[in-house]
Amino acid sequence: MKINDIQKEILRLKKENDICILAHSYQAHEILEIADFTGDSYALSVKAQSVPNKTVLMCGVRFMAETCKILSPEKKVLISHPEAGCAMADMMDKELIEQLKPRYKDYTIVAYVNTTAALKTICDVCVTSSSAVQIVNNIENKNILFIPDCNLGAYVAAQCPDKNIKLLSGGCPIHAAVNPRDVDLARERHLGCKVLVHPECTPDVVEKADFVGSTSEIMDFARNSEDTEFIIGTELSIAEHLQYEFPDKNFYPLSAGLVCKNMKLTTLVDVYNCVRGKGGEEIILDEQTIADAKKCIDEMIRLNHE
Ligand code: 13P
Ligand code: SF4
Repeated sequence: MKINDIQKEILRLKKENDICILAHSYQAHEILEIADFTGDSYALSVKAQSVPNKTVLMCGVRFMAETCKILSPEKKVLISHPEAGCAMADMMDKELIEQLKPRYKDYTIVAYVNTTAALKTICDVCVTSSSAVQIVNNIENKNILFIPDCNLGAYVAAQCPDKNIKLLSGGCPIHAAVNPRDVDLARERHLGCKVLVHPECTPDVVEKADFVGSTSEIMDFARNSEDTEFIIGTELSIAEHLQYEFPDKNFYPLSAGLVCKNMKLTTLVDVYNCVRGKGGEEIILDEQTIADAKKCIDEMIRLNHE
């Protein structure tokens, strides 16, 4: 089948079967085109609460589909590809934090949303890359244990100097692999271009950037800027989507290594199979996990609006 025909079928079937498609901005362009909503982790979490459909299909990685199920337990939630995990979320388990908790009794445990549902059940509040600074600033407690991303945590610590932020070693291997030399080289190749990076990059890369933000914030920065060329320091798909949106501007990836294999697992045919009931995996979480993990996500939404 041609891409166009598959897309038409997906649009017909999702309507017929009352399915809402949420797609993270790292998904392929042909998937974003047929999604009901696209965006960064925060936007998708909030959207998941309000969609009216009986079924939600999350095109992204597992923690995103779990977040969706936690916020809408009455809905059937599908993940587009059963093997699409997140290397960072899989890095830290509940048991480790349970063991460390007695040492951090006076600390508020802040979990990046890139964590498993099980780990969220013992944390106090979630954050996403676009909401982390605002939320940490709004937490009353000065003492924060920030998990699992020490790079995002370091960025937040720099923006919230009044807080005492402790970090553990964890993070996104793809963003953490970019190094300051990549920034220097990209700047030499593309003179005068602004460098936009995700806060999952290491502090020495973030320090050299002109703008730091979530996937959606990077896209918005490029949309609203009068500049015509940018170096994009996050997953390659973002430069590609921007290039489609602005064919007369230029978007250069900061590093060719910025590829999230998990995000790339979902294909348009996977989406087609999901909407016709032949693919994906339904997210099943027990009631207690949903109730406990929800507190942490609700707190994220509350503190982001304070
Ligand atoms: P965003 O919240 O910026 O979409 O980030 C999610 C993610 O996994 C980035 O690697
Ligand atoms: Fe996880 Fe990194 Fe992929 Fe984002 S880019 S989904 S943090 S592995």
